[in-house]
Amino acid sequence: VNVNKSVNIRPIAASDLAGFRELRLKALQEHPAAFSSDYAVNLAQPQEYWQNRLNSAINSSQQIIFVAEDAGALVGMTGIFRGDSPKTEHSAMIFGVYVRPSHWGLRLGENLLQACHDWARNQGVRIVKLGVAVDNAPAIRCYQRAGYLNYGTEPKAICVNGLDYDEYLMALEI
Ligand SMILES: CC(C)(COP(=O)(O)OP(=O)(O)OC[C@H]1O[C@@H](n2cnc3c(N)ncnc32)[C@H](O)[C@@H]1OP(=O)(O)O)[C@@H](O)C(=O)NCCC(=O)NCCS
Repeated sequence: VNVNKSVNIRPIAASDLAGFRELRLKALQEHPAAFSSDYAVNLAQPQEYWQNRLNSAINSSQQIIFVAEDAGALVGMTGIFRGDSPKTEHSAMIFGVYVRPSHWGLRLGENLLQACHDWARNQGVRIVKLGVAVDNAPAIRCYQRAGYLNYGTEPKAICVNGLDYDEYLMALEI
Protein backbone atom coordinates (compact mmCIF):
# COMPACT_ATOMS: atom_id res chain seq x y z
CA VAL A 1 0.00 0.00 0.00
CA ASN A 2 1.39 3.40 -0.96
CA VAL A 3 0.59 5.73 1.94
CA ASN A 4 2.27 8.81 0.51
CA LYS A 5 4.44 9.66 -2.45
CA SER A 6 7.29 7.33 -1.51
CA VAL A 7 6.43 5.16 1.50
CA ASN A 8 5.19 1.62 1.00
CA ILE A 9 3.62 -0.59 3.70
CA ARG A 10 4.13 -4.32 3.20
CA PRO A 11 4.61 -7.57 5.15
CA ILE A 12 8.17 -8.19 6.29
CA ALA A 13 10.16 -10.49 3.98
CA ALA A 14 13.15 -12.83 4.33
CA SER A 15 15.35 -10.23 2.64
CA ASP A 16 14.65 -7.74 5.49
CA LEU A 17 16.84 -9.56 8.02
CA ALA A 18 19.59 -6.92 8.36
CA GLY A 19 17.16 -3.99 8.09
CA PHE A 20 14.78 -5.49 10.63
CA ARG A 21 17.55 -6.04 13.19
CA GLU A 22 18.86 -2.49 12.71
CA LEU A 23 15.39 -0.91 12.96
CA ARG A 24 14.38 -2.93 16.01
CA LEU A 25 17.66 -2.19 17.83
CA LYS A 26 17.29 1.53 17.10
CA ALA A 27 13.76 1.50 18.51
CA LEU A 28 14.86 -0.30 21.69
CA GLN A 29 17.92 1.91 22.17
CA GLU A 30 16.21 5.26 21.65
CA HIS A 31 12.88 4.54 23.35
CA PRO A 32 13.64 2.24 26.30
CA ALA A 33 10.41 3.11 28.12
CA ALA A 34 8.27 2.33 25.08
CA PHE A 35 9.13 -1.37 24.77
CA SER A 36 9.44 -4.23 27.24
CA SER A 37 12.25 -5.83 25.19
CA ASP A 38 15.70 -4.70 26.32
CA TYR A 39 18.31 -3.12 24.02
CA ALA A 40 21.39 -4.78 25.55
CA VAL A 41 19.76 -8.21 25.59
CA ASN A 42 18.72 -7.86 21.94
CA LEU A 43 22.07 -6.44 20.86
CA ALA A 44 23.75 -9.59 22.23
CA GLN A 45 21.44 -11.96 20.36
CA PRO A 46 23.02 -14.13 17.65
CA GLN A 47 21.98 -13.93 14.00
CA GLU A 48 19.92 -17.09 14.55
CA TYR A 49 17.62 -15.22 16.95
CA TRP A 50 16.76 -12.60 14.32
CA GLN A 51 16.37 -15.27 11.66
CA ASN A 52 13.92 -17.15 13.90
CA ARG A 53 11.94 -14.01 14.68
CA LEU A 54 11.68 -13.21 11.01
CA ASN A 55 10.75 -16.76 10.02
CA SER A 56 7.93 -16.90 12.55
CA ALA A 57 6.49 -13.65 11.18
CA ILE A 58 6.45 -14.89 7.58
CA ASN A 59 3.72 -17.20 6.22
CA SER A 60 2.14 -17.64 9.65
CA SER A 61 -1.50 -17.49 10.68
CA GLN A 62 -0.35 -16.64 14.25
CA GLN A 63 1.61 -13.47 13.68
CA ILE A 64 2.90 -10.96 11.13
CA ILE A 65 5.12 -7.88 11.03
CA PHE A 66 4.36 -5.02 8.64
CA VAL A 67 7.13 -2.64 7.64
CA ALA A 68 7.13 0.83 6.11
CA GLU A 69 9.75 1.21 3.39
CA ASP A 70 11.04 4.42 1.84
CA ALA A 71 13.52 4.32 -1.05
CA GLY A 72 14.58 0.79 -0.13
CA ALA A 73 15.13 1.53 3.57
CA LEU A 74 12.92 0.36 6.46
CA VAL A 75 11.47 3.41 8.24
CA GLY A 76 8.83 1.79 10.43
CA MET A 77 7.40 -1.48 11.71
CA THR A 78 4.47 -2.92 13.66
CA GLY A 79 3.78 -6.51 14.66
CA ILE A 80 0.72 -8.43 15.74
CA PHE A 81 0.25 -11.91 17.20
CA ARG A 82 -2.96 -13.69 18.04
CA GLY A 83 -3.85 -16.08 20.84
CA ASP A 84 -2.93 -19.71 20.17
CA SER A 85 -5.82 -21.41 22.00
CA PRO A 86 -9.30 -21.89 20.52
CA LYS A 87 -10.39 -19.70 23.42
CA THR A 88 -7.99 -16.82 22.68
CA GLU A 89 -7.52 -16.87 18.90
CA HIS A 90 -10.25 -14.21 18.49
CA SER A 91 -7.87 -11.78 20.19
CA ALA A 92 -4.50 -10.36 19.14
CA MET A 93 -1.76 -8.16 20.61
CA ILE A 94 0.02 -5.34 18.80
CA PHE A 95 3.77 -5.07 19.47
CA GLY A 96 6.87 -3.18 18.37
CA VAL A 97 5.16 -0.07 16.98
CA TYR A 98 7.99 2.13 15.71
CA VAL A 99 8.57 4.86 13.13
CA ARG A 100 11.94 6.53 12.55
CA PRO A 101 12.01 10.19 13.71
CA SER A 102 12.69 11.29 10.10
CA HIS A 103 9.20 9.97 9.24
CA TRP A 104 7.17 11.04 12.26
CA GLY A 105 3.97 12.98 11.66
CA LEU A 106 3.05 11.18 8.42
CA ARG A 107 0.53 8.87 10.10
CA LEU A 108 2.75 5.90 9.26
CA GLY A 109 2.04 4.43 12.69
CA GLU A 110 -1.67 4.50 11.93
CA ASN A 111 -1.14 2.97 8.49
CA LEU A 112 0.98 0.17 9.95
CA LEU A 113 -1.76 -0.51 12.49
CA GLN A 114 -4.41 -0.61 9.75
CA ALA A 115 -2.34 -3.20 7.86
CA CYS A 116 -2.21 -5.32 11.04
CA HIS A 117 -5.96 -4.90 11.57
CA ASP A 118 -6.74 -5.97 7.99
CA TRP A 119 -4.55 -9.06 8.39
CA ALA A 120 -6.13 -9.89 11.75
CA ARG A 121 -9.69 -9.47 10.46
CA ASN A 122 -8.89 -11.90 7.65
CA GLN A 123 -7.70 -14.41 10.27
CA GLY A 124 -10.99 -14.12 12.14
CA VAL A 125 -9.57 -11.96 14.92
CA ARG A 126 -12.22 -9.70 16.51
CA ILE A 127 -10.34 -7.65 19.06
CA VAL A 128 -6.80 -6.20 19.17
CA LYS A 129 -5.06 -4.93 22.29
CA LEU A 130 -1.88 -3.11 23.23
CA GLY A 131 -0.08 -1.46 26.11
CA VAL A 132 1.43 2.04 25.99
CA ALA A 133 3.34 4.00 28.63
CA VAL A 134 0.98 6.57 30.13
CA ASP A 135 3.39 9.43 29.28
CA ASN A 136 3.89 8.42 25.61
CA ALA A 137 1.64 11.13 24.16
CA PRO A 138 2.56 10.64 20.45
CA ALA A 139 1.79 6.92 20.59
CA ILE A 140 -1.45 7.45 22.54
CA ARG A 141 -2.56 10.04 19.92
CA CYS A 142 -1.81 7.54 17.17
CA TYR A 143 -3.77 4.74 18.88
CA GLN A 144 -6.73 6.98 19.73
CA ARG A 145 -6.94 8.12 16.12
CA ALA A 146 -6.99 4.47 15.05
CA GLY A 147 -9.99 3.99 17.37
CA TYR A 148 -8.37 2.32 20.40
CA LEU A 149 -10.09 2.85 23.75
CA ASN A 150 -8.40 2.77 27.12
CA TYR A 151 -9.73 -0.13 29.25
CA GLY A 152 -7.38 0.13 32.19
CA THR A 153 -3.97 0.95 33.55
CA GLU A 154 -1.28 -1.61 34.37
CA PRO A 155 0.70 -0.33 37.35
CA LYS A 156 4.50 -0.56 37.08
CA ALA A 157 4.27 -2.39 33.75
CA ILE A 158 7.96 -1.86 33.04
CA CYS A 159 10.97 -0.63 34.97
CA VAL A 160 13.82 1.17 33.18
CA ASN A 161 16.92 2.26 35.09
CA GLY A 162 15.05 2.11 38.37
CA LEU A 163 12.09 4.13 37.09
CA ASP A 164 8.68 2.44 36.99
CA TYR A 165 6.26 3.13 34.14
CA ASP A 166 2.54 2.49 34.21
CA GLU A 167 0.91 1.48 30.94
CA TYR A 168 -2.51 2.20 29.55
CA LEU A 169 -4.18 -0.93 28.23
CA MET A 170 -6.02 -0.15 25.01
CA ALA A 171 -8.30 -2.22 22.80
CA LEU A 172 -10.08 -1.97 19.48
CA GLU A 173 -12.83 -4.21 18.16
CA ILE A 174 -12.09 -4.78 14.48
C1 LIG B 1 4.28 6.32 18.19
C2 LIG B 1 4.79 6.53 16.76
C3 LIG B 1 4.88 5.19 16.07
C4 LIG B 1 3.77 7.40 16.02
O1 LIG B 1 4.17 7.42 14.68
P1 LIG B 1 3.73 8.56 13.62
O2 LIG B 1 3.56 7.86 12.32
O3 LIG B 1 4.63 9.71 13.67
O4 LIG B 1 2.29 8.98 14.19
P2 LIG B 1 1.39 10.19 13.74
O5 LIG B 1 1.85 10.79 12.46
O6 LIG B 1 0.00 9.69 13.82
O7 LIG B 1 1.63 11.24 14.91
C5 LIG B 1 1.26 10.92 16.23
C6 LIG B 1 1.72 12.00 17.18
O8 LIG B 1 3.15 12.04 17.18
C7 LIG B 1 3.57 13.39 17.50
N1 LIG B 1 4.44 13.87 16.43
C8 LIG B 1 4.17 13.92 15.11
N2 LIG B 1 5.22 14.43 14.44
C9 LIG B 1 6.18 14.67 15.34
C10 LIG B 1 7.51 15.18 15.27
N3 LIG B 1 8.05 15.51 14.10
N4 LIG B 1 8.20 15.30 16.42
C11 LIG B 1 7.67 14.96 17.59
N5 LIG B 1 6.42 14.45 17.74
C12 LIG B 1 5.69 14.30 16.62
C13 LIG B 1 2.31 14.22 17.60
O9 LIG B 1 1.92 14.23 18.97
C14 LIG B 1 1.31 13.41 16.82
O10 LIG B 1 -0.01 13.62 17.23
P3 LIG B 1 -0.83 14.86 16.54
O11 LIG B 1 -0.66 14.72 15.05
O12 LIG B 1 -2.21 14.64 16.98
O13 LIG B 1 -0.19 16.10 17.07
C15 LIG B 1 6.16 7.24 16.75
O14 LIG B 1 6.04 8.46 17.46
C16 LIG B 1 7.27 6.41 17.37
O15 LIG B 1 7.84 5.53 16.73
N6 LIG B 1 7.62 6.70 18.64
C17 LIG B 1 8.74 6.05 19.33
C18 LIG B 1 8.44 4.58 19.65
C19 LIG B 1 7.17 4.41 20.43
O16 LIG B 1 6.89 5.13 21.36
N7 LIG B 1 6.37 3.40 20.03
C20 LIG B 1 5.12 3.08 20.66
C21 LIG B 1 5.30 2.01 21.67
S1 LIG B 1 3.77 1.62 22.51
